Amino acid sequence: MAESVFLGLDVGTSGVKAILVAPSGDVVASATSPLTMATPHPGWAEQDPEAWWQAALTSIATVRKRPGARIAAIGISGQMHSSVFLDRAGEVIRPALLWCDGRTTAECAEITSRVGGEERLRDLASNPALEGFTLPKVLWLRRHEPEAFARLATVLLPKDYIRYRLTGTLATEPSDASATLMYDTARLRWSEEIMRAVELPTTLLPDVGPSAGVLGRVSADAAALTEIDVGTPVVGGGADNACGAAGVGAVAPGEVVTSWGTSGTVLAPTAKPLVDPRLRAHTFCHVVPDMWYVMGVVLTAGGAFAWYQDQLARELAGMSDAAARLDAEAASVPRGAEGVTFLPYLQGERTPHRDAAARGAVLGLSLAHTRAHLTRAVLEGICFALRDSVTILQSLGLSPNHLLLTGGGAKSALLRQLQSEIFGLPVTTVNREEGPAYGAALLAAVGAGAFPDLATAVRATLSRAPLQVPDPNAHLDYAQPYVRFRQSYLAARPDLLAHD
Ligand code: XUL
Repeated sequence: MAESVFLGLDVGTSGVKAILVAPSGDVVASATSPLTMATPHPGWAEQDPEAWWQAALTSIATVRKRPGARIAAIGISGQMHSSVFLDRAGEVIRPALLWCDGRTTAECAEITSRVGGEERLRDLASNPALEGFTLPKVLWLRRHEPEAFARLATVLLPKDYIRYRLTGTLATEPSDASATLMYDTARLRWSEEIMRAVELPTTLLPDVGPSAGVLGRVSADAAALTEIDVGTPVVGGGADNACGAAGVGAVAPGEVVTSWGTSGTVLAPTAKPLVDPRLRAHTFCHVVPDMWYVMGVVLTAGGAFAWYQDQLARELAGMSDAAARLDAEAASVPRGAEGVTFLPYLQGERTPHRDAAARGAVLGLSLAHTRAHLTRAVLEGICFALRDSVTILQSLGLSPNHLLLTGGGAKSALLRQLQSEIFGLPVTTVNREEGPAYGAALLAAVGAGAFPDLATAVRATLSRAPLQVPDPNAHLDYAQPYVRFRQSYLAARPDLLAHD
């Protein structure tokens, strides 16, 4: 008899991943199809939803080759905030503006003013208006592409678009809805107040169901394309950061997860919607019912390193051990990169600066420095940016005794060590490395009744590595380089400096 498995899909920025997870929790197949991101102007970022769908089909076709596996349910996670604009016929109107797109500063100001100020917006959405969020993108469309806006019938999130293609159902769930700035994160409903203030109809928004609830079933058309049975349930799924946290077992308060994807995030689940008084971190719904999280976001973490590798380490392109070679290069340089500082703000920054116009920088170069110093400075700069978020979470009372690492920063021994030493905290990893796709597959397993809830699924499938404890002297060695990093931000924003 065919073994029942759960399909987890993750619509990332650099690729769409598909995994098959057995009821034991073992990953029995995995495939990733790459994606590219268009940056038509500095600070802009777009992808075509059709590219996500084609990449999803390719990844699904690859994992479907696993003999004897029957997909019992599907869970999808995806990049947050990115805007899929659909017309009445369900056709995509234009490429999606992504989570790391910074073009909507004017629209953010417009939203804040129309709603009645930042405090009122915080009361309604638990967040400020930030360029990456979905609502400013809808206002941008209205202002800059009125003909496209006139066709707009539905706004979807990336993973919800893939569900739409699989099932024909327009739906979302709280973890993605709460990251649109159109949802009342504390009261768990679309915010009619915000929609009224910005003069948009709530009919643009899909129904919201539970992250582990069945929100659609595979259609005959999608079954023909994917060879997945007609009627296979597709659960709500969730935002990639929420699913990534679930995928490493962070489903209750007390945990803090640091993730390196294209972005870098530091996320702490909370039992109540806790809001940073200075609004440097975000407050969104978790994929666990009645649970929230606070999260700091570094817009380009893995994205900054990928840029660095593409532009300044081209000779390694295509080598399977490129990352290991760069790690070895970085490890050959002392802590603090002998005075070289890198700011990873290549696409602006959210936490802590809330500054879409921030830009990257390398400071402190001398003739004595080599590419190895740059490599180390880039990795340290990303860790320092993440440390800003760790510090903010600690200031909110979210002080873990260790951090859970996931994504690229969990896979490399050097990055585990750098993070532990720079944060001054022990770190650990789990036995599954699939990140958000794994959390999505666990939600599918819960939706199919294999586990009563996510906490049980996590207990049954995940185990943790022994804690890696930092050398206290190493943490001290980073004190001065971190101060240098913090002070360098203004160097990347000379226009903010007073002129004499
Ligand atoms: C979170 C955010 C990113 C994306 C990456 O607010 O914008 O982490 O979710 O896919």
